[in-house]
Amino acid sequence: MPDDASPTPQSVLALTPLNPAFRDDPYPILHDLQTHRPVMRDDAAGVFFISRHEDVRRILTDLTLWRSPEKAEAAAVLTRRGLDEQTDEERRNPTILLMDDPDHARIRTPLAQALYKRAARFRPEVEQIVDGLLDKLQGRSTFDLMSEFAVMAPIDVIAAILGVSRARLAEFRDWSEGVVQGLNPMRTPEETAHMERAGPALRQHMVEMIAARRKKPEDDLVTDMVQAQAAGADLSDEDLVANLNILLVAGNLTTTDLIGNAVQLLLTHPDELAKLRADPALIGAAVEEVLRYDPPVDITGRIASRELTVRGCPIHPHQSMLLSLRGANRDPEVFEAPDRFDITRKQSPHVAFGGGAHLCLGAPLARLEARVALARLFARFPDLRLADPAAPPAWRTLPFFRGLRTLEVAV
Ligand code: HEM
Repeated sequence: MPDDASPTPQSVLALTPLNPAFRDDPYPILHDLQTHRPVMRDDAAGVFFISRHEDVRRILTDLTLWRSPEKAEAAAVLTRRGLDEQTDEERRNPTILLMDDPDHARIRTPLAQALYKRAARFRPEVEQIVDGLLDKLQGRSTFDLMSEFAVMAPIDVIAAILGVSRARLAEFRDWSEGVVQGLNPMRTPEETAHMERAGPALRQHMVEMIAARRKKPEDDLVTDMVQAQAAGADLSDEDLVANLNILLVAGNLTTTDLIGNAVQLLLTHPDELAKLRADPALIGAAVEEVLRYDPPVDITGRIASRELTVRGCPIHPHQSMLLSLRGANRDPEVFEAPDRFDITRKQSPHVAFGGGAHLCLGAPLARLEARVALARLFARFPDLRLADPAAPPAWRTLPFFRGLRTLEVAV
């Protein structure tokens, strides 16, 4: 229920890093909302912003709700905004990220089966990729951890999973960075040009890979999907192209930010880093605590498919809800001392990967990458530290994500 004691403006824009106060420290603002307006209506954006863990969790796991922006009412301008910007091809071939059943399950089920199976046995390849990136940093006294490590690792891992040849890796890296600009509403004309060049090139490459694997199978995810198709899975080539490409858009920046946020947090919390150094088996718990404490993704969305009541607030069919994963992860009703970064926290029902039917498909892979990347990085550079401990963190301004532009470290 609205409460005039709250100093937070009733605007979703103020809940993005475009607002410097939110960018520097979003948590006092989110705590204020949880106390005074746990269901905040932004009329201009046409959404409800929901920030208590109990509500977020319940809505995420309600399988009767919708995700496709086309089902949102006309007033839900923020949710529907992407629809106007879609190309004809994107309109014809949506991705599972914004799809509802039955199409969502038709595509997600075989893709999830194949990706989970590959991620489960991909540790040696991830270790090799991470070690190769660290080898290139050997002998340097300082470097930007973001551009020289955290950005590269997820791109190279997804390239290896898909089966992109080493000869095309440089191009693939360039396209991957280009398509991620699609998430950036503040992109420069150069970044827009990069994005517009990268999208068709990546799609064309995927079309060629699908045709090549159909002729000659390899040990990779594109082959898995072509074989699932041949075995009777109801998947068109267009479904495959769109949904293999979305793995890059959904997975690269997010995993980059998980690694960057983790390094930044561990370097600024020396007691927690000391615990990890003393007991490397804590790496899994450390990654979960980073996902809870500073998750890469702020929000996800759902659309009401029927009359709902959230904390007494009626939400009608076709109205759009933004679920604050960041707020839920700091809810004092669920997490003891939620603003303490503690890698030995006992249980952590965080929602950094969303939940329900749309639960992040890449979660096992992201966890694997982060665990390997952090363990190998801190082992390789035992004296890793911030190059300038007095410098404030260089947070990006990309709405709905939290990650660093640069992270200068010394070794
Ligand atoms: C730390 C890294 C990551 C974070 C924080 C993250 C977070 C998320 C979130 C919040 C969602 C929406 C879930 C919902 O609406 O309930 C999502 C969906 C998704 N993610 Fe991730 N993600 C990460 C890494 C990855 C990776 C590595 C991949 C692919 C290899 C990936 C692929 C996807 C896909 C395909 C979806 C859509 C699933 C669906 O709608 O059914 N993500 N992710």
